[in-house]
Amino acid sequence: MIGRRAVLAAPMALAACDRLASAETPALRVPPLKTVAPCPFGTCVQIANLDDPSWRDLASVQISQLTPEWEMKMEYVLADGLAHPRFDRTDRIIDYARANAMTVHGHTLIWYSQGREAFAGLDDAAFDRAFDGYIAAVAGRYRGKVRSWDVVNEPILDDGSALRDCHWSARYGQDGYILRAFEVARRADPDAVLFLNEYNLEGIPKKGATFLRLVERLLKAGCPLQGLGAQSHLWIDIAEGRIAAFMREAAGFGLPIHVSELDVTLRTDKGALDLRSHADRVARQTARVTELTEAFMALPPAQRFAFTTWGLRDTDSWYRKADKDDGKDSPLPFDQNGRPNPMAGALATAFGRA
Ligand code: G3I
Repeated sequence: MIGRRAVLAAPMALAACDRLASAETPALRVPPLKTVAPCPFGTCVQIANLDDPSWRDLASVQISQLTPEWEMKMEYVLADGLAHPRFDRTDRIIDYARANAMTVHGHTLIWYSQGREAFAGLDDAAFDRAFDGYIAAVAGRYRGKVRSWDVVNEPILDDGSALRDCHWSARYGQDGYILRAFEVARRADPDAVLFLNEYNLEGIPKKGATFLRLVERLLKAGCPLQGLGAQSHLWIDIAEGRIAAFMREAAGFGLPIHVSELDVTLRTDKGALDLRSHADRVARQTARVTELTEAFMALPPAQRFAFTTWGLRDTDSWYRKADKDDGKDSPLPFDQNGRPNPMAGALATAFGRA
């Protein structure tokens, strides 16, 4: 029976080891990721990043594609209502990308979690005009300026048991709203590659299977779905092999695949009871990143659409925002000072094994 004092001492000793280890760890030398990736290497961006010179410096070296993190979504565009869409911030992101030889992946046109307020109270005819009009206005505005779109984001329930019900499916049905959104987007921008984007496809096999069945149904219905977005918000305890297994199954459709929002939190559902050292958890993190990247590299080149992390530096991560921050998480390729984390090394190594 370990005494209470010993149990309390354990985390402190582990923390000391971590500090000592990090103090001795030589700085990683990693080639710019956009130079070793076999496709555009991207990250998410918001205006606050563009106003940060250190972010711009790091992005100019590492990044060749951008995904607007939130300002291209209804929550920003429709903040003043359907009659007064706001494009100022996304216009600035597009201009920055074009001035810095970066492509843009549009994110996202239709999402279950946004738009309810702006569309509230509309009768069916007005709802239809607003739904089609929004997609046509946003995708039309950036026609020729974005490479691709997440036309629909996160259509599946967290447990993978079914598709979500939402204000969009209430009007058009669960597959219906997705079909309609893709058809309107196709008309608005005939050249953009149109994606369906989802998370936890790897770590929750049932969700991955439901996603792939949805893709099959949509394609059979003639949906202009052209790409599959695996967000890859991974966690360190995903069983070995699951990530690669999903990538292999998804590849079967022959469509381009976008690893669209990679991050790997070091926090676990064990919370403070997770007595594993930082070094141990980082080792598990890099093992999962290696598995994902090697599975991506095993795709035919035509199916390697892009590889995007959901932030550049740990402090840019949504995990490090106020209500989620434990001050220690390191979910991204670079630390808060822009120095490569082990994740960056794992990415470069796996990309380099082309
Ligand atoms: O910057 C403003 C701040 O000025 C303002 O005071 C504050 C309160 O209104 O809002 C701040 O903006 C927030 C923004 O994140 C920047 O932190 C928005 O409210 C907040 O809604 C936004 O959250 C984003 C979230 O999607 C919802 O759009 C996160 O940044 C973004 O990382 C997250 O990304 C999602 C993907 O789109 C889909 N996949 C999951 C992923 C993580 O949840």
